[in-house]
Amino acid sequence: MFFSKIYKSWKGIQEEKYKRILLGFDTDLLAKAFSGKVLDLGSGSGFFEKFLQKEGFNLSKWVCLDPDMDMLGRSGGFLCMLGSGNYLPFKPGSFDNLICLDSIHLIREDFFWVLKPGGFALVSLFYNPGNLEDRRKFLKERIGNMETVKEFQIEGRESEIFILARKR
Ligand SMILES: C[S@@+](CC[C@H](N)C(=O)[O-])C[C@H]1O[C@@H](n2cnc3c(N)ncnc32)[C@H](O)[C@@H]1O
Repeated sequence: MFFSKIYKSWKGIQEEKYKRILLGFDTDLLAKAFSGKVLDLGSGSGFFEKFLQKEGFNLSKWVCLDPDMDMLGRSGGFLCMLGSGNYLPFKPGSFDNLICLDSIHLIREDFFWVLKPGGFALVSLFYNPGNLEDRRKFLKERIGNMETVKEFQIEGRESEIFILARKR
């Protein structure tokens, strides 16, 4: 598939971004948002998870899901599932927290129903100077009536907007 062919070449850019994600949070919030049973939707090859493992995070309850077998084939050390965010095989409220980095625009259906009340969702989208506000609006619409806890942007080789939301 398209992503798996070019994705490997993005590893350096992605790691730069991940370091800056951690800097965007205070330690307590980070510990809460990345703890317990976490679903990473559109996880790709698990670059983010590998980065977090190197940083000392325990990902034993994380589930990574992606529809591209070629991408998942390079993962390791955490549970990976082949699947689509449009058809999630979980019961409502199955996850403590959720992340969806640079993938939400590829998932048509709502998926926040997999989160427990009080659970955090970290969602992000890349942007360029001409479409930042559209991207922000898109993310806000997707999180619906969830509470926005934090919002920040990373400007680097790839610019990305992040929203940390909490389910009421
Ligand atoms: C730009 S990559 C982002 C990968 C990873 N989240 C990251 O930030 O490194 C987008 C990923 O979304 C996945 N994807 C595409 N359609 C999807 C869907 N319907 N449900 C879940 N993931 C999807 C692609 O296979 C790809 O791995």
